[in-house]
Amino acid sequence: MRVESRYRLVYKPLVFLACSAPFVLLVAGAFEVLGRDLGPDPVEYILHSTGKTALNLLLITLLVTPARQLGGWPHLVRLRRMLGVFSFFYAALHVLTYAVLDLGLDFATLGEDIVKRPYITVGFTALVILLALAATSTNGMMRRLGRRWQKLHRLVYVAAILGVWHFWWQVKADIREPLLYAAMLAVLLGYRVVRSRTARELARRFTEARTSAPPSESP
Ligand code: HEM
Repeated sequence: MRVESRYRLVYKPLVFLACSAPFVLLVAGAFEVLGRDLGPDPVEYILHSTGKTALNLLLITLLVTPARQLGGWPHLVRLRRMLGVFSFFYAALHVLTYAVLDLGLDFATLGEDIVKRPYITVGFTALVILLALAATSTNGMMRRLGRRWQKLHRLVYVAAILGVWHFWWQVKADIREPLLYAAMLAVLLGYRVVRSRTARELARRFTEARTSAPPSESP
């Protein structure tokens, strides 16, 4: 099977199923089927599960580039869009859970929270970025925006930093988990910094070597 077909027929459907699984499990828990339930505080359970899944998928999205470069799997990039859009999907569910189930659609309180509670302000900013990235993730938007598309999509790093910050900020005592997320993000961002510095250095040396080389003799 050609690599394009393998991605289209096998890997993409598998990733779709894997990304849908947390949602299916939440629905199963909500309807108490498949032996699942959402525990004593279902709203908190959904809020935490969707927030964590959104952040996990965001970090997995950022893992695609190092994995394809270091593992020599260039086609892995074909899965990145789906991972990113699913991250937005769970982030949107997370905020809807807060707005509908926690605040009872009290948009005035939601607005107040966004303005007055710093960890919500940070989460809201991350959500707006994810929305912009999901809305411009189609091939048509990629073509229409041209070089600006890449610049816009660099905001994914900002969204990830804000997502981890939002997580860290709302933790009351035990910071081990957000610390682990921050460490993973630092590795993912650090990899990019080192890689782009190395590429720039190599380009500089290459230009220097070319300009200082004696002109080749004509035959
Ligand atoms: C308007 C936007 C957002 C609002 C109003 C919001 C609200 C909340 C609330 C109320 C909590 C629970 C706090 C607690 O239990 O005391 C929470 C936790 C969390 N949120 Fe958000 N959030 C937003 C955006 C986001 C985004 C965009 C992400 C991810 C990219 C995210 C990831 C998380 C995570 C990981 C947790 C912690 C879950 C856990 O403790 O297991 N949130 N958020």
